[in-house]
Amino acid sequence: MFKSGRLFGDNYHSAADTVVNQGGTSSGKTYSILQVLFQKLSERTSKVCTVVGQDIPNLKAGALRDALDIYNNSEELKSLIKSYNKSERIFEFHNGCVMEFKSYEDSQDAKSGKRDFLFLNEAQGIPKPIYDELELRTKEQAFIDYNPNAEFWVHDDIIGKSGVELLISDHRQNPFLLDKQRAKIEGLKEKDLELWKVYARGKTGKIEGLVLRNTVLCNYEDIPAGARFIGRGMDFGFTNDPTTAVDVYLSGGELWLDEVLYEEGLTNPDIHRRLLAEDPAATLKVMIADSAEPKSIEELRRLGFRLIEPALKGPDSVRAGIEILQRYRLNVTRRSVHLRKELDNYKWKVDRTTGKPTNEPVDAFNHCIDPVRYVVLNKLPAALAPRRRSAKSSLVQ
Ligand SMILES: Nc1ncnc2c1ncn2[C@@H]1O[C@H](COP(=O)(O)OP(=O)(O)O)[C@@H](O)[C@H]1O
Ligand SMILES: [Mg+2]
Repeated sequence: MFKSGRLFGDNYHSAADTVVNQGGTSSGKTYSILQVLFQKLSERTSKVCTVVGQDIPNLKAGALRDALDIYNNSEELKSLIKSYNKSERIFEFHNGCVMEFKSYEDSQDAKSGKRDFLFLNEAQGIPKPIYDELELRTKEQAFIDYNPNAEFWVHDDIIGKSGVELLISDHRQNPFLLDKQRAKIEGLKEKDLELWKVYARGKTGKIEGLVLRNTVLCNYEDIPAGARFIGRGMDFGFTNDPTTAVDVYLSGGELWLDEVLYEEGLTNPDIHRRLLAEDPAATLKVMIADSAEPKSIEELRRLGFRLIEPALKGPDSVRAGIEILQRYRLNVTRRSVHLRKELDNYKWKVDRTTGKPTNEPVDAFNHCIDPVRYVVLNKLPAALAPRRRSAKSSLVQ
């Protein structure tokens, strides 16, 4: 029914109760497991499959997006599916099978419902007690996937047990990637060996020396109503990197960060459209953008973003921005899924001779972090001076 790579067959034919897919980035884990589950549901009747992510924003940016992609690209699958309910996030097959996408607050919450198949997507973000309750209520088979940037409960309690198969994959097993995507993943080798080991080879690593550890998760609604909007940071990308935008607010001596854009392939008119669709008042916002692209900044200004300015640049600007960020508690909205992932991987470069962290960050996992740096460096000193006001409520919605 699908075009697929080797990982599909390995998962499809596995007779294990629990199939663990550890792997580097873009090895095709999520895509393959979803294809296997669609396939298995199409061959049975009245079975339930639950796909679980750590929260809904993560599911929407990950497994659910891939599932919709698979669905939209297969006429055969479309003919087997009766409906997709967007608000409930459920695919319903004509044969009575369903595939649902869910996240659970805690283990009590995970006691609700039963299923035949379970897929734990990016399991490192899901607490073991939740998995235990889900697994207890899974009749046929469970699939788990994750990037191994640290050991966690899957390594301690699942791998090596009877009935468990471990599949390790990396981008080389995914035939659907472009060469430039592979080159980018392999390029981590020059930047940081530990990141390369995890993301290019799927080997269990230990990402240490994180630059920003002063972070806590919050909901968008938790940003205090009177929080001061400091600015919207932007980084430009096109073919291989995303264009990103992150809003920065200040309240009660803490910073609040909210990712509003993360997408590849956007032209400047696309960016304009995207940001206006998200907020009709977007052109009124103070924006601080990557100074390496003066032409894009000027074009966005002409498209209506009158308050856009280039990020300050100097030999020490990266460190200066980081030093400001380290002074604050950083409240990161749950929907900032890419920023969250970057914060877990943004680390100091290691000195190759001494093996010690330097005071320069690795130039990776910074598409969303750089824009935050731009905002605090350009705008925070002025915002901290007395007599300036701009409430969140007057700028958002
Ligand atoms: N069977 C497939 N058919 C088409 N594209 C695929 C297939 N498998 C993987 N891909 C492509 O590769 C990308 C990476 O796969 P993904 O499953 O997200 O990797 P991982 O979960 O291992 O990080 C997907 O976004 C998709 O574009
Ligand atoms: Mg994945």
